[in-house]
Amino acid sequence: MSFTRRQILGGLVGLGVVGLGAGGARYWLGRTRGAKTHDYELIAAPLDVELVPGHTTPAWAYGGQAPGVELRSRQGDWLRVRFINKLDEPTTIHWHGIRLPLEMDGVPYVSQLPVLPGEYFDYRFKTDDAGSFWYHPHLSSAHQLGRGLVGPLIVEEREPTGFRHEKVLSLKTWHVDEQGAFTAFSVPREAAREGTRGRLTTINGKPLPTLDLPAGQVVRLRILNLDNTVTYRLNLPGGEARIYSLDGHPVEPRDLGKEYWLGPGMRIELALKVPAEGTELSLRNGPLRLATLKSVASSEAPGDWPAALPANPVPEPDLEKAQVLRFNFEWAATLASGAGRPSNYWQINGKAWDINDKTCADRPIAKLKKDGHYIFELRNMAQYLHPIHLHGMAFKVLDSDRKNIIPYFTDTYLLGKNETARIALVADNPGVWMFHCHVIDHMETGLMAAIEVA
Ligand code: C2O
Ligand code: CU
Ligand code: CU
Repeated sequence: MSFTRRQILGGLVGLGVVGLGAGGARYWLGRTRGAKTHDYELIAAPLDVELVPGHTTPAWAYGGQAPGVELRSRQGDWLRVRFINKLDEPTTIHWHGIRLPLEMDGVPYVSQLPVLPGEYFDYRFKTDDAGSFWYHPHLSSAHQLGRGLVGPLIVEEREPTGFRHEKVLSLKTWHVDEQGAFTAFSVPREAAREGTRGRLTTINGKPLPTLDLPAGQVVRLRILNLDNTVTYRLNLPGGEARIYSLDGHPVEPRDLGKEYWLGPGMRIELALKVPAEGTELSLRNGPLRLATLKSVASSEAPGDWPAALPANPVPEPDLEKAQVLRFNFEWAATLASGAGRPSNYWQINGKAWDINDKTCADRPIAKLKKDGHYIFELRNMAQYLHPIHLHGMAFKVLDSDRKNIIPYFTDTYLLGKNETARIALVADNPGVWMFHCHVIDHMETGLMAAIEVA
């Protein structure tokens, strides 16, 4: 594919580009006929934030906040984002989980050229899927995401749902020390194991927040894992919570149960029946508190569980006629690098992706026929978790040899220790799509591949 260089910011004077900190302002280019648009001007720029009280952290922000400003659209409408790069290095935006055309997918040299410092890029696509998605760069990922370039993208359902209250909770565990200074985003020793973990866990940029929720109401909690590495083992002891959606896709509502493992890049939507005024619940990661959910007075009549959310328009794979493809996710210590070369600790089917080689996408690991039906057998040959993510298409998780699966559509499946799972999809979106582990330093040390649909 060939690309043309994007406009440089100098030519944009007439638009009155807003300064640092005021990003996220909406701009209007006029409406697209027949559909509504949701227009944003989104700036990526350095921003000092206070994660550790009394100390500043030199974060990178989208729209003047880290995690980034929330972008919202509505199912069937257009989202248009003029993205302006005010960092001093190239970047892109990838829209995680939402199905869109390849040109809007934000993968450098596959979808577009990197957006250079001072340049802008207009992302525009129709948001046909409703749900909780997110956005992040797709180059220099360990440090760009690590510094805070991650943000929620919420697409509301076309018709009103039974939810009257909602909260977005963006989880991130920052790589900072006690003074708020950044520590290494990726350490080879850790990249070869579970991934390099940060130290300071936050929700919407705050450690251990207290969130007020209206007593007696049912609140939709959109919980997004925007972290590079951590799988949060979500639990809510004593809370009455039901799962309504996994990643971008509704499920038949069911109890949260004891614990849900939310891997990097994954999302879960819960309905929580908020207890009587004054009650406090702990949202936890395993035994560790993430947030206090505090019930506050509400004058509204008590709410009841809303109906299930409407399914997104994802084509149903035909398992009878599907072709089976196997993918092994392996640890490959022997590839550990010599000087000057990137370290590759991981492989898919014996091949390691090299983030410094712009031509990797020219050698797709699989070629799918447009509109063909496929079953992927995913095998984790190692003991570490791999949240396996596919761009461009949603897939249906069928079964696993380690856990009971109620089949559901998703964009990311958390492949457990030595697990084999089967997923299925209709290859309806032409392009070259990334297929990778969302533990960022696994992805950057080999665990990525391209899948072609033509
Ligand atoms: Cu969240 Cu390749 O992406
Ligand atoms: Cu993605
Ligand atoms: Cu991994």
